[in-house]
Amino acid sequence: MISRFGVKVKTLIVYYSRTGKTRMVAHKLSSMLGCDIEEITDKEDRSGPIGFLRSGRQARDKELIDINDLSKDPASYDMIIIGTPVWAWTMASPVRSFIHKYRDRFNKVAIFCTCGSVGADSAMSEIEVLSGKKALSFLGLKNAELKEDLCGQKLKGFVEEIKNK
Ligand SMILES: Cc1cc2nc3c(=O)[nH]c(=O)nc-3n(C[C@H](O)[C@H](O)[C@H](O)COP(=O)(O)O)c2cc1C
Repeated sequence: MISRFGVKVKTLIVYYSRTGKTRMVAHKLSSMLGCDIEEITDKEDRSGPIGFLRSGRQARDKELIDINDLSKDPASYDMIIIGTPVWAWTMASPVRSFIHKYRDRFNKVAIFCTCGSVGADSAMSEIEVLSGKKALSFLGLKNAELKEDLCGQKLKGFVEEIKNK
């Protein structure tokens, strides 16, 4: 990514997605910013109602779960953009585990969340607390905005804010 000051800022988007919405936003942002992207994966079966319920419980209980190692090293980037779906008013557990595992390997952070309707602000606050870093920029998107493709302006605003930091 090239900042508004013409400086190259090596940026990595790290995201988790269970049903594809956060992935879609992550890929849009990656092409807008021209930056690297990596998906957090874990070993759990989160499909169907059982997977939904387990995921909700893990998020509510702030459980740390086993995630696969990233192929890219966050420490070799100037900025990490973390993307998460909102689960039980907080971040998805694979994202919690990523932050817990890698928080000493990144400094500058921006955050985006997708959600049904509520909880993006509290998810962001918790990410800031867990990572020990204040977000340079934050974007919360509701599913209705994604469906109707109303998010273009918000994505542009988020990207501009990041480039201005
Ligand atoms: C276990 C679970 C808990 C959720 N809890 C919330 C919530 O507290 N608030 C909300 O607005 N949406 C909630 N949702 C909806 C997701 O945040 C939303 O659909 C999100 O965009 C899904 O992203 P994804 O497709 O990348 O997995 C929850 C979804 C799951 C699976």
